[in-house]
This record gives sequence, structure tokens and C-alpha cells, in this order.
Amino acid sequence: MDQFQDQSAAAIRQPQAPPVVRKWWHTATVYQIYPRSFCDSNGDGIGDIPGVTSKLDYLKSLGIDVIWLSPIYKSPMDDNGYDISDYRDIAPEFGTLADFDHLVAKARKHGIGIVLDLVVNHTSDEHPWFVESRKGPGNPFRDFYIWRKPAEDGGPPNGLMSSFGGPAWTLDSETGEYYLHMFSRRQPDLNWENPEVRREIYRMMNWWLERDIAGFRMDVIDYIGKQVDQELVKDGPRLHEYLQEMNRETFGSRNILTVGECWSATPGSALLYSGRDRNELSMVFQFEHVTQQWDEVYGKWRPKPFDLVTLKSVLSKWQYALSDDGWNSLFWGNHDLPRAVSRYGDVTGYHAESAKMLATVLHLMKGTPFVYQGEEIGMTNVPFTTIEQYRDIETINMHRLHVEAGLSPEDFIRGANESARDNARTPMQWSAALHGGFTKGVPWIEVNANYATINAEAAMTDESSIWNHYRKLIAFRKTHPVIVYGLYQSWLDQHPDVFVYTRTLDKDRLVVIANFTPREVPLTVPCELAVSGKCLISNYEPIDALPGENIDLKPYEAFAILSQGP
Ligand code: NOJ
Repeated sequence: MDQFQDQSAAAIRQPQAPPVVRKWWHTATVYQIYPRSFCDSNGDGIGDIPGVTSKLDYLKSLGIDVIWLSPIYKSPMDDNGYDISDYRDIAPEFGTLADFDHLVAKARKHGIGIVLDLVVNHTSDEHPWFVESRKGPGNPFRDFYIWRKPAEDGGPPNGLMSSFGGPAWTLDSETGEYYLHMFSRRQPDLNWENPEVRREIYRMMNWWLERDIAGFRMDVIDYIGKQVDQELVKDGPRLHEYLQEMNRETFGSRNILTVGECWSATPGSALLYSGRDRNELSMVFQFEHVTQQWDEVYGKWRPKPFDLVTLKSVLSKWQYALSDDGWNSLFWGNHDLPRAVSRYGDVTGYHAESAKMLATVLHLMKGTPFVYQGEEIGMTNVPFTTIEQYRDIETINMHRLHVEAGLSPEDFIRGANESARDNARTPMQWSAALHGGFTKGVPWIEVNANYATINAEAAMTDESSIWNHYRKLIAFRKTHPVIVYGLYQSWLDQHPDVFVYTRTLDKDRLVVIANFTPREVPLTVPCELAVSGKCLISNYEPIDALPGENIDLKPYEAFAILSQGP
């Protein structure tokens, strides 16, 4: 046995039958759009819905099936739309309901479904429910939110903290009570224990479902069962009851995709959310592969050095856990995370190679891949130098708190360059034109200066681009059932530099090998992986056969060989 093979993974797993019920989203690839930063059609510097519609041909040619639109609802934009003041209207900067309906209809003609972001843990403080609620006890909407009397010393009722820094409670001076907000003080948490709140939300969801949307991405959905007085926020005791009720009352009878954002998800709870007899969600976003890289005390603001063995162990654990039931989402990035190629790849020496390697590893796993806008052209983190260039409320709050606590502003910016959410939110780089072709006006946040070389126009005309690599991977999922349903097995689990796995379905076997380093890496291929077949994809010269002996992998080299038995 090779020194890097993990004992526990050494036993070769037997291919299982594919899931009994096949779903359309098993073969789908989702593309996430952060509307504010995608395409500005009217020159106000802010991306909008007509901008998205104008790029449907681009998305169609990439091959994606679904667009997840980050929130487009009416909002004061304290948290860029994750603070909704009217669930049944569109923010004017993004367009109108007519623009939205047009997008849905036109996308359908392109074979693309629109998944909306469902933000129902909280609303904006400008939502009419909250405006009423804050009028005081006795108001019919008081119990739509979570109000508590001050602690004996007049301070917050308990120690719950907001994800954006500071206490999760704000005192409302009018009534002398505190309201709960797990995010900004302008995002009061809804009281899910109130059946009237749940009824209103289900009504609203059905209203959108009637507009022919293809599903919902559910914002921090693991928070809705919270037990505030026990300081229990995630995975509360009634969470799954609420989700089953929601399923029954809204989308259960429809063939849509639902994905819950669940930072607390474990393989066990993922089966509760997405197990085949559970009637809850299609899948969840789990974040273990993200959070295992964070510092125990300072979290994402002080990432640990990259460790491939840990990353592999987390990803493989999830592949194994949801092998026969439930379903995985697959993603490297989203609007809250740094750019994948900056985090896991090498943007200076091996930009294209490492971006393609990451895509290969992710897209050939079992699950539904999510591509975050710009990832398909290898967009990178942005090297802002001052806090004034950042726009995100989380970063601005954290900057204040950290600097007050004694961190130098330079050190904070260094951390933010690696971890801040604005890394993912700089405008989509369409071309080498001014502002990357994103807007004819002044963009709401600066465009990354590397748009002159990293842009969609250049990528689409280059046969060997990252974009074309994504395109191939996305297409393979449609033509190769082994990618969709094949049994996953990892190999060489303890190898510090190389990720190796196989997928097996009937007589098809896919061997995937990826070097995660900027160095040449000699690899002893386990004899069980010796294969001769067809190179499905590679970021260097295609390789059709693997001898069961030593090979040399080039920097960030990744390839997949498909063998099809007789
Ligand atoms: C998770 C979203 O992804 C994030 O962008 C947002 O700030 C919080 N939830 C609050 O809605």
C-alpha cells in the first residue's frame, strides 16, 4: 500500500445502484448572480435585471441550467438586498416586476430556470411588519419579531452576538424593549414561532412560485428554529418541522430546486434536510470545507495556511455521507467568500492552470455544482488598500471593532484582502473596456484592475481558456452519467499535494488526479488506478493512460481519464 493511502479509505467501495428517484437538478449546473455586480444596463453604476437578461446568451453558451439570483427585492440595501422591505416588489435600482417576469420567461426559452434568494430569517427594519411591530406591545405585528425586556442591569437580554459584530440586540427607546437581529441592526429577526409569520411567508413564496421560478436558495435557513432564551440559534428543535411545513404549504408539489444555506450542517443533519423521504429540501450548502480553514478565535479574518489533506478529508467525508441518500451541493465560492482561485490556486504564477484544476476537481464530484459569477473566467480577489474602498457592512463594522481593539489598519486590510466579502463583489469583468464593460457610469464598487487581461470577451475567444474548460465540464455532466451518479472513492488521502479520486458507474470508471501545488510532483500511482481509456479533460496535454507506476505531475496539473469496460 502506498504511504499516503488512508487505511480507512483503502477498502474499495462497491458501486451502488443510482438513486431511485432521478431529479432534473442532478444533472444541472447552477450559476450564481450577484445582481448588483453583474451587468449594469442603464449606466447608474449598479447591475440590474435587464443587465442579467442581456447576458442570457452568454450563460446559455456556458451551458448552465439554473441562475441563482441573490436578492432583487425592494430594500434599503443595508446588506445589499439581504434586508428586504417588500417581499413582493423589486428594488428600483434592479428594475421592475415586469423586468423580472421578462427575465424568467426569456430564461425559460434558453432552457434556464431562475432560483430566487429566500431571505426569511429576518427582514429590513423598513419592512411594514417591523414598522408596525416597533409601535409597541399590543400591536398586532409585535410578535412578528423577537422582543425581550432588558436584563436587570438594563443591558441586552442575553449574550447573543450579531454576525456583523456587537450584540445581537438593539434597544428600541420608544418601548424600552430590545429586538433581536442576528445580522445588522437594520435586519430584525422574524419570529418563526408565530404561526401567522409562517403563513405570510408561505403565501409570499407561493406568489413567486406562480411566476414560474425554478426554486429557492434559502438564506441562513438553519436559524429559523432558534430558541432565543436558550441562546440557541442554529439547528433549533423545530427547524425541521418548519421546513416540512414549508414544503407542504408551498413547493412540495412542484418540481423545483431548493438549497438551504446551513453553516451548521453536518453530514447527519444534511440527511435530515435532503434525505429522500424527508420532504424538506433538495440539498444544502455545507461550509465545513470553508470553516476548517479559519482560525478558532479570529475566524475568517485570520485564515490558516492551506492544508490539502484536511480539505480532502472534509470533501470526501461529504461525498461518502450522501452517497446513497441526500444530495451534495458543490461550490468553491459565493458572494460571501473570497475568490476561489485566490484562496486555493495561484493567481500570479499559474492562474489558468490552477483555476482549471479547481474546476476539474469540483465538477467531477457527485452533487450539483454552483459556479459563482466570474469564477468561470478566473476572477481574483481585489487588492484594495484602504477601508474607504470597501462597501460591505460586515467589513466596515469589523474594521471599526478590530481597530478599536488595537489592530493596525494595515493589518486589518491585509486580512480583508484575503477574506472580505467584497472580493467576490467587485463587478463582473466582461471586456477590456473601461470598468471591464460592467457599466457606462461609475461602478458602485471599484472594478478589479486586472480586467484588462481577465475578462469574458477574451476568455470566450481563447480555445484554451478557463471559460472553455468550465464549458466542457458543464457539458460532460449532461453526457456522462458516471459524473452524475457514479460512486465516489478517494485515494492517497494522506498525500499532502495531490487529490485523487475515482467515480464508478456500471462499467464506466473515471480517475481524477489533481496537483494542488505550483511544483512538479512525482506520484506513485496505486496499481488499482492503472487505466487506459480516454482523457475527458486536462489542463495540460491530454493523458489517455495511467501506468501503475511513477508519473510526474506538472504544476497544478489536473486530468480525468474515463475507461469504459466491455
Ligand atoms: C447570508 C448571506 O449569504 C449573506 O450575504 C447575508 O449577509 C446574511 N445571510 C444575512 O442575510
